[in-house]
Amino acid sequence: MTTKTAEEIRIMERACKMAAQALAHTGKFVKAGITTNELDQIANDFILSLGGKSACIGYHGYPKAICTSVNEVICHGVPNERILQEGDIINIDVTVIKDGFHGDTSSMFKVGKVSDKAQLLCDVAFEAMHKGIQAITPNGTVGDIGFAIEKFVRNKGYYAVKEIGGHGIGRIFHEEPFVPSFGKKGKGAQLKVGGTITVEPMVNETNAPIDELEIPNSEIGLYETSDGTWSAQYEHTVLITSEGPRILTLP
Ligand code: MF3
Ligand code: CO
Ligand code: CO
Repeated sequence: MTTKTAEEIRIMERACKMAAQALAHTGKFVKAGITTNELDQIANDFILSLGGKSACIGYHGYPKAICTSVNEVICHGVPNERILQEGDIINIDVTVIKDGFHGDTSSMFKVGKVSDKAQLLCDVAFEAMHKGIQAITPNGTVGDIGFAIEKFVRNKGYYAVKEIGGHGIGRIFHEEPFVPSFGKKGKGAQLKVGGTITVEPMVNETNAPIDELEIPNSEIGLYETSDGTWSAQYEHTVLITSEGPRILTLP
């Protein structure tokens, strides 16, 4: 994993703060009747107004500024004319690039009143992300993170997605190491002080296989559950310090 200088960390902090602000801003517009394209426009305008840029537009051919993953969509949902309905849950994922560095964060938002089942799924995903972050130590490994996430998620009766996960981040949007939502304590890539990674578990209601769909003209896959059950995810960009994890994607 690459490590950042103090100056590089200050730049990353600004990119991360912008991403968090854009996420919070866009989330305020989530309501029944709005389309995910409209949310994309709101997010992009806001990112630009902050002096940043969406890192998603054109990334391996990805066409939009953000990802909007509704209900059964696990991640990389592409904003379109889908109209949000009361009871839907949506993950909005924002990645900003500013002065050459990336900040990547996502949250679930609820459309009006959602079912207890949907609320619980979101709560488990939120807590799973924080369990993963809390497992970060200066001399630990990515296996510590994955172990903490998977143990928590399984204990709640849910399933953490194995195929997709977190990543190193910095000058490059997705860099080494892969940060899995499963693993063994002490195994996998070493964490390093000054390194920056994302922790972004995806939590499913069942262990049905996941489907990868093509996004036209893009190498990015769009992932959905194969059985139509719902999925939830939260994501933060985190700095590894000698004291432990520090979440950078806070508004
Ligand atoms: N933000 C996503 C992640 O958490 C990646 C989106 S790539 C895109 O890693 F091209 F789909 F935008
Ligand atoms: Co990410
Ligand atoms: Co993201």
